[in-house]
Amino acid sequence: MADIESKDKKQKWFYSDIVKDHFLKPRNLAEDDNMVKEINPDGIGEVGSPACGDVMKMWIKIGDGRIKKCLWKTFGCASAIASTSMLSVMITENNGMKIEDALKLRPKDILERLHGLPKIKIHCSVLGDQALRAAINDYFKRTKQEDRMVKV
Ligand code: FES
Repeated sequence: MADIESKDKKQKWFYSDIVKDHFLKPRNLAEDDNMVKEINPDGIGEVGSPACGDVMKMWIKIGDGRIKKCLWKTFGCASAIASTSMLSVMITENNGMKIEDALKLRPKDILERLHGLPKIKIHCSVLGDQALRAAINDYFKRTKQEDRMVKV
């Protein structure tokens, strides 16, 4: 049975159990300003989706060239929440991902870990990925490493 069906029953959407879990229990969600203050972020990124107008904000803490902490907040949909939650786990697990590896991450890597998203929702997984690159660029700017900045 589909998780969501359009009124005319022409469209059916299925979400994996992993997507549902991350949507219902988002990891590393910035629930209030204090959480953000506590990590004393080294980089902040904010992006909007041209496809739907939703916005994603991300804060990262860097240590030894790795992403030690990540918090995020979005006005996006369930798929944006689930994919950014998964992204935040991927970049902070195992002592934190190296910055250069995090910059190579693409939505397909997040989708793999989520066991997919409905096709119409793929653009939602791009938001977290872009917010991460914007946050890393902000870190590069603050630390005078502008030469390392990348295209968001
Ligand atoms: S519809 Fe906007 S982020 Fe999913």
